[in-house]
Amino acid sequence: MSTKEKLDTSRIPQHVAVIMDGNGRWAALRGKDRLEGHSQGAKSARAVVEAAAEIGVKYITLYAFSMENWNRPQTEVAGLMSLLIHSIASQLGDLIKNNIRLKIIGDTSLLPADVYTQVNDAVVKSQQNTGLTVVIALSYGSRYEILNATKQLLHKYQEQPFDIDSITEQDFSNYLYTKDIPDPELLVRTSGELRISNFLLWQISYSELYFTDVLWPDFSKEDFFEAVYQYQQRERRFGKTSQQIATLK
Ligand code: IPE
Ligand code: IPE
Ligand code: MG
Repeated sequence: MSTKEKLDTSRIPQHVAVIMDGNGRWAALRGKDRLEGHSQGAKSARAVVEAAAEIGVKYITLYAFSMENWNRPQTEVAGLMSLLIHSIASQLGDLIKNNIRLKIIGDTSLLPADVYTQVNDAVVKSQQNTGLTVVIALSYGSRYEILNATKQLLHKYQEQPFDIDSITEQDFSNYLYTKDIPDPELLVRTSGELRISNFLLWQISYSELYFTDVLWPDFSKEDFFEAVYQYQQRERRFGKTSQQIATLK
């Protein structure tokens, strides 16, 4: 039986978040330029989006470029930006055809104008789609997102004071980029690094974490199904006892 066939269709995660890491090492191992790793990585991203759609995942968030990545050599940043424009431009038709909705989270004000225009165009053209939502984390930093949410709340208070003690977790979430997106049940990171790198700190508070040594350009649909399969083998207790979980079933 293939891994995909082994999946419990009643327990497919609604939202999977992915830290796509290892493009540079993949290229170095082959004596290639880092940018070739990124371009191969773009193919993995496409495959994973297809895999997610095939099994009925509703949201997939792909960490494409972090706030910290702005500090990479200027040529690499420029190469990544141009890859982004080309990937989105060449895949927009398929996105629309496959009923996929594109969303961006991150500080898009830092993006070069041509990148912003291209990305925004794809977001607008796909916003009525009702199938899989592909969320691209671009110029994204989680602490910045949380700080920004706090500032927005404080501004709201300044304009019209309200009962501070009435603020709920849900109210706070509404100020994050991810409002309207459920928290990921599963977070995948490739390339063997065991860290979060400033990604979705608030949203992954109860996510299942899955780390694999596979470098992102080698990550296939099969690897994605394996991650979901492993997720399905876990017992999500949310602080309760195993026995309580069993009685709920
Ligand atoms: C992930 O691959 C892509 C981005 C961060 C943009 P890396 O470029 O980080 O690859 P490694 O970690 O150097 O191998
Ligand atoms: C995290 O990867 C960011 C993305 C995958 C876009 P990095 O390669 O930038 O993370 P660190 O530097 O290893 O923490
Ligand atoms: Mg890396």
